Amino acid sequence: MDNLDWKNLPFGYHKTDYNIRYTYKDGKWGDLKISTSEYIDIHIAATGLHYGQEAFEGLKAYMGKDGKIRLFRWEENAKRFIISADGIKMAKVPVGLFREAIYKVISLNRKFVPPYGTGATLYIRPLLYGSGPEVGVKPSGEYTFIVFVTPVGPYFKEGVKPVNMLICRDVDRAAPKGTGIFKVGGNYAASLRALCAARDGGYASSLFLDAREKKYIDECGPANFFGIKNNTYITPKSESILNSITNMSLIEMAGSLGMKTERRQVPVEELSEFTEAGACGTAAVISPIAKIFDPDTNQVYEFCKDGKPGEATMKLYNKLVSIQYGDEPDEFGWISIVE
Ligand code: PLP
Ligand code: COI
Repeated sequence: MDNLDWKNLPFGYHKTDYNIRYTYKDGKWGDLKISTSEYIDIHIAATGLHYGQEAFEGLKAYMGKDGKIRLFRWEENAKRFIISADGIKMAKVPVGLFREAIYKVISLNRKFVPPYGTGATLYIRPLLYGSGPEVGVKPSGEYTFIVFVTPVGPYFKEGVKPVNMLICRDVDRAAPKGTGIFKVGGNYAASLRALCAARDGGYASSLFLDAREKKYIDECGPANFFGIKNNTYITPKSESILNSITNMSLIEMAGSLGMKTERRQVPVEELSEFTEAGACGTAAVISPIAKIFDPDTNQVYEFCKDGKPGEATMKLYNKLVSIQYGDEPDEFGWISIVE
């Protein structure tokens, strides 16, 4: 892929050669199909279109210095995909099928895995939707599972340069007992008004608060939030945020780096006590936060001195990406090699 400018890839769609598809019908999953088409033929009454029966995942393949392709904790994505499917009453994709699909799609599109040292990765997007026709509101009897890949650069174009976030009180992405813990398309649709307002104001993303009381931090657009104070990594516990695999990993890594860790409700006012803050996720990796603006109180919370990410944030970032690219031993057992 000589014509791809790997170092300047955006986080966006780029056509690759193949995608993988399966159909669930009559209570069972059919065989793997390889497709070269970027399009799907979809029934006009599919529940995925009308009633939001759709879930997805996001994980990355990393090219190591040794020429080996690594996956980071893919089993966790497979498990969360099952939780999401179950959450909106869809057929579940068994872990074995998920594995078969992602390994196959990577092997077929090997030439799109960005070279080591470019900072780019191959983003893997499993997608599941109700493909059977219904007009009444009920779960579909048929489902389609697709996995495509696309080479990507950093999600926040600043990369590891600190970004600014806008607190959002007038839009909720998910209700307390709603679908926030599932990775379903509806949550992202619900977040768009806030995201567009944040972008229009020059912010990288919106910071959502808990929908019930608007007192506690939920998450930062498509990433979890963390703050650091007194050598402690603190991240929100909430019933309406996605359980980030990156965040789960950072909690373990912070512990191994001698930091204390806390997962609990984080009141907005506590932002003034954090010396560092960041957004974390597969796409975001770790995006350090420079400033958070609260439009209701006009308060600005600042975390980065001289526009540079803090020491603990960088330690966590470097350790995470070193493990992902295979530069550091896989001491936690998080890496799988795609042969
Ligand atoms: N929160 C939301 C809403 C997301 O979409 C994502 C991305 O998947 C995350 C958090 C981060 O999760 P993970 O680290 O598993 O990618
Ligand atoms: C990811 O981090 O993998 C995500 O899914 C974020 C995405 C919605 C862009």
